[in-house]
Amino acid sequence: MARSEIKNVNLSFDVYQSESDMDPNDQLLLNKAKEIAKNAYAPYSNFKVGAAVLLDNGTIVTGNNQENAAYPSGTCAERTAVFYASAQYPTSKVKAIAVITDNVKQIEPVTPCGSCRQALAEYEIKFREPIRVIMGSASGKVFVAKSVESLLPLMFNQDHLK
Ligand code: THU
Repeated sequence: MARSEIKNVNLSFDVYQSESDMDPNDQLLLNKAKEIAKNAYAPYSNFKVGAAVLLDNGTIVTGNNQENAAYPSGTCAERTAVFYASAQYPTSKVKAIAVITDNVKQIEPVTPCGSCRQALAEYEIKFREPIRVIMGSASGKVFVAKSVESLLPLMFNQDHLK
């Protein structure tokens, strides 16, 4: 007879009903994300997303989704922002990322897709420091997760090979 045990994973995050209830630094980062969402290139989905990455040197790097006629060739706002941050400031730790859309129908917070969670996790592993994930919406409701790992249990991780 097969023997096994069950492992449970608990996903927890903070829920704010209004942006004004949040930490002012998180509000600022979310506002930067909101601003850059306007520049997104999203002619296929019409869903413009913006992301703002805070680095430990205080720099804020922003990005947005960039779509393509060959759909999978496009990329999400979170990856545009974090890849640009890593390209420009390879030694600066990533402290936080905020993500939001300017789409008024999005009343629930925008939560990063699985590929973006894996991409963001890379920098959490690289710098051995949790990245705060601030997820905004058009309604003002916000989710804040303390780390990417908490949003992606059992992520692919090759750190043990180093
Ligand atoms: N998108 C993002 O940029 N970030 C997310 O967290 C969710 C989805 C983009 C991908 C695509 O361009 C559009 O939103 C619709 O899925």
